[in-house]
Amino acid sequence: MRYIPRLLLIVGAISLAGCDTGPKGSIGFSLPDGDITRGKAAYIEFQCNACHVNEQVPQLDTGAPATISVTLGGETARIKSYGELVTSVINPSHKVARRGSDDMADEGGTSKMVSYNDIMTVSQLIDLVAFVQSSYELSPYSHTNYPVYWLPEPAQKD
Ligand code: HEC
Repeated sequence: MRYIPRLLLIVGAISLAGCDTGPKGSIGFSLPDGDITRGKAAYIEFQCNACHVNEQVPQLDTGAPATISVTLGGETARIKSYGELVTSVINPSHKVARRGSDDMADEGGTSKMVSYNDIMTVSQLIDLVAFVQSSYELSPYSHTNYPVYWLPEPAQKD
């Protein structure tokens, strides 16, 4: 019986990994290298800085008090992949299930992030992803020191 929770964990891990496969998965997804400088220019042109805080770009003053402020860049334990960043830009509502705060989406779960899909070129998207990704910094990995436990030697059979 006590193996069942472990089995469930393994099945869960396999089905999570399975999200990437199939016709709607991300297998085979690869972006060409983007240009960080052009990405930063696009970031300012599209006014991403109205809702996003990024150390390298001054905040856009829209006159209205900012209701949305999502930090992009800075220290992180894991740099987001191209796939995650592209998805965040072209399909922001995808994150609905994992979103912690209600302010980020309307009642129907649609992200309050504006859609650029009809105005942004693919090159701009590639450059934007390169810029946003470059503004993350991996936080130093800290080791956990686990004490060493010695197992008693099995009793010798004479
Ligand atoms: C009207 C406000 C608004 C604008 C403008 C905006 N965003 Fe967002 N963005 C959001 C919100 C709100 C989220 C929060 C995540 C969500 O919707 O789940 C978000 C999330 C993101 C994320 C994911 C962040 C994370 O940590 O998961 C990325 C990347 C991103 N935006 C990039 C951009 C880029 C690039 C632009 C400009 C082309 C832009 N955004 C413009 C509101 C905005």
